[in-house]
Amino acid sequence: MWSGRFTLEPHEMLTKFSESVSFDWRLYRHDIAASIAHAQMLGKQGIVPKEEVEQIQQGLESIRKRIDEGNFEFSEKLEDIHMNIEKALTDLIGEAGARLHSGRSRNDQIATDIRLFLREEIDAIISLVEGVQRELVNLSAEHVETIFPGYTHLQHAQPVVFAHHLLAYVEMLERDKQRLLDCKKRVNILPLGSAALAGTTLPLDREYVAHVLGFSDISRNSMDAVSDRDFILEFLSCASIMAMHISRFSEDVIFWFSQEVSFIEIGDQFCTGSSLMPQKKNPDILELARGRTGQVIGSLISLLVVMKGLPLCYNRDIQEDKIPLMTSIDVVKGVLAVLAPMISSITANKSKMLEAASDPALMATDLAEWLVKRNVPFRLAHHRVGKFVGYCRQHNIPLDKCSFEQLKSCIPEADESCLELWDPQKSVSSRDIFGGTAPNRVREQIQFWKTKDFMK
Ligand code: ARG
Repeated sequence: MWSGRFTLEPHEMLTKFSESVSFDWRLYRHDIAASIAHAQMLGKQGIVPKEEVEQIQQGLESIRKRIDEGNFEFSEKLEDIHMNIEKALTDLIGEAGARLHSGRSRNDQIATDIRLFLREEIDAIISLVEGVQRELVNLSAEHVETIFPGYTHLQHAQPVVFAHHLLAYVEMLERDKQRLLDCKKRVNILPLGSAALAGTTLPLDREYVAHVLGFSDISRNSMDAVSDRDFILEFLSCASIMAMHISRFSEDVIFWFSQEVSFIEIGDQFCTGSSLMPQKKNPDILELARGRTGQVIGSLISLLVVMKGLPLCYNRDIQEDKIPLMTSIDVVKGVLAVLAPMISSITANKSKMLEAASDPALMATDLAEWLVKRNVPFRLAHHRVGKFVGYCRQHNIPLDKCSFEQLKSCIPEADESCLELWDPQKSVSSRDIFGGTAPNRVREQIQFWKTKDFMK
């Protein structure tokens, strides 16, 4: 493609080292769509004769079909997806194919292709996120009254309902989705027409190309358009945050499924056994989800490091954007796709859950707040209840087995109604504040989600 300037053929090491078609072939549909739009515009502007535009379009469509059907042989010698397609086109239609690259560089071409590709992948990811949200909401609906312990520091904190915990992840995923939608606005800008870096002398109609390809705007600065990959970094940042959420969810499920905890059962079809220990049932899917999401965060860091030292404009380093991007997309999509059905296979061991939330110590805060309602300053109330808990621990008596006199000796303001506070059911119901864990409030959350399109 550049043989005019050179006397020697590229060394085979160079070919192997610099090719990208082994991974950027995945952009073929986007590359062809962008080329067809570009060719139509060249025809409209009188840069390429109309009959030749027709030939280009038909040629590109037949190449797309060949690739779709697996009848296209990619060549590393042609470096990337762009040159593979362009060469196939000129082989097919001759001179007309050689006119396609007018006013265009691979620099603005690749930036356009990735934006088309990423725009589509964002939509696909969002619909997978919604699949997970849907299963979480469905599972929540069965567990509005299922009480289990809420933790801080992985220590029993206060009783909550299982649905409340699950719905926390629905919220996180909703923000992940909103972030992706916002990111998509900045992805959906057309760089084509920037050429190598400075624009072109040819009278291109960039607005027309943007319209044909469904871009919402065109880039304002050609140097920026060909050299930045911040739109990929932004996507990877959003994906990394989502990966972090998925990983935490996985960790929670693994914990609930552990023998010591045994709060849930996961469907056999989503667990694996051991080749050695016949009794084993392992939550491998969740461990893989937790592990694999690490690659997304790694991809973000890896591309940030690629970009941070680059002078404007295009440098070949930028080709290294694709593997992190594609890896992250594959990981996120793969994990989301398996999580949805896995979630629907979860059943709760309600008695185990309730038992774990029934230690009256989990209701210590309820007692402190009871005192606040009787006008005791919170700090003093906290101190008194703390002393009572300490007394019980010291004498090895569960809080609810203490006599009223013993309670009174630590908390002079106490009366008999305090003894009713040890009930986890009451504790949960009394957290009746917007956003709180009272079943009525959790039902409100479920109602809120049920109005969303993704629940239909
Ligand atoms: N394959 C390159 C990339 O992915 C695009 C081609 C631009 N190459 C160049 N030598 N200017 O970034």
